[in-house]
Amino acid sequence: METLLQEIKYDSLIEKDRACIWHPFTQMKTAKAPISIVRAKGLYLYAEDGRSYMDGISSWWVNLHGHAHPYIVEKIASQAAQLEHVIFADFTHAPAVELASRLLPLLPGKMSKIFYSDNGSTAVEVALKMALQYWQNLNQKTPKTKVICFKNSYHGDTFGAMSAAGKNEFNRPFWKHLFEVESIDPPLPGQESSSLAQLDSILEKGTSACFIFEPLVLGSGGMVIYSAEGLNSLIKRCRQHQVLTIADEVMTGFGRTGTLFAGEQIEEKPDLICLSKGLTGGFLALGVTACTEQIYNAFLSDHKRQAFLHGHSYTGNPIACSSGIASLDLLLKESCTHQREMINRLHEEFCQKWQLHPKLKRCECLGTILALEYICETTSYFETMKDRLYSFFLSKGILLRPLGNVLYVLPPYCIQEDELRFIYDQIEHTLEGSL
Ligand SMILES: Cc1ncc(COP(=O)(O)O)c(C=O)c1O
Repeated sequence: METLLQEIKYDSLIEKDRACIWHPFTQMKTAKAPISIVRAKGLYLYAEDGRSYMDGISSWWVNLHGHAHPYIVEKIASQAAQLEHVIFADFTHAPAVELASRLLPLLPGKMSKIFYSDNGSTAVEVALKMALQYWQNLNQKTPKTKVICFKNSYHGDTFGAMSAAGKNEFNRPFWKHLFEVESIDPPLPGQESSSLAQLDSILEKGTSACFIFEPLVLGSGGMVIYSAEGLNSLIKRCRQHQVLTIADEVMTGFGRTGTLFAGEQIEEKPDLICLSKGLTGGFLALGVTACTEQIYNAFLSDHKRQAFLHGHSYTGNPIACSSGIASLDLLLKESCTHQREMINRLHEEFCQKWQLHPKLKRCECLGTILALEYICETTSYFETMKDRLYSFFLSKGILLRPLGNVLYVLPPYCIQEDELRFIYDQIEHTLEGSL
């Protein structure tokens, strides 16, 4: 009887959802009913129909320490009761200052200032605008206005962020409205010199303002891991040609790639860094753009028009910042490092075992990210293999959301060995079975 009542309630919520909600990245005409989640704890999402799911992708890569972590919950609650929000122009508050001053020394390179926004796309918009205005403020004779990016990259869905990824299937309806960028191939192992040659021919023109990249791994582009050395050479070359470099660590930040930030694995350091997703441990929307003193100084002037005239209503929100501080506390604990090492060790073992499987084109890992590319005729995001894999894992109580024919595991750091092994077992079924 109780189950029946639950189902009736569940059905009605989904009907209500259909009546008023338009979901992201979804063809609403053909979409299946959404799964209604009522609560979450640690690795698990609990649905209204009584089922539970292991969150194998950290809910779009945001969750670091597990859902509803009591330490972060408590910090957020007490901050909300103290100061929930205040305008951030002409005003300041302790959580924003504390988070910035604790983040800066942890970031790769010599970052000097933090500019807050509300998500990954806006962190990227801010970085692009800073880089472009930097050269205008310096009043260069030859205008430096062009942006260089990697083919197959992703930086978000606002117009600047879409432009910075170059034209692709996702942003096709907006191609006419995107600004032109110059794209180079990422330095995949063995292709480093070709990538550098492409960069060289762009740099020769002397019109490039900045180079934006996802360090070490192209996330939405299919978790494609590329050469750290290759990236190092590209950044070095940009520096030699006075082109600013922007590391988009929105996905890679906060331990995902093995080090706290991916940029630690390369010698050359960027001029700007974008952060979001794991920044608040996955609790609240917050974006950060960090920059060097050199960039910051170029905006200091007696003229207001040389200031960075950009901001968002929720810039530096105190509750989001307190969540960021609490998440950092947890991230810097030795136990969290051990967890990330354990995840990496098991991922490595999995790769060793399966990388030569005939169904796989690629099976590789970096830090806590494991990626498997299945061989199939088409390789686009819209590939139906994605749907088959997605449904299969949901039926096993696991949330894994492939990018086309690329399946990846990117779990919260609280996952336990037996839980990760359970996920691997189900992946093995897809390799050895008929899927
Ligand atoms: C590397 C990278 N940059 C930027 C973004 C955009 O972040 P958001 O979805 O918070 O706007 C994403 C999102 O997946 C990302 O992976």
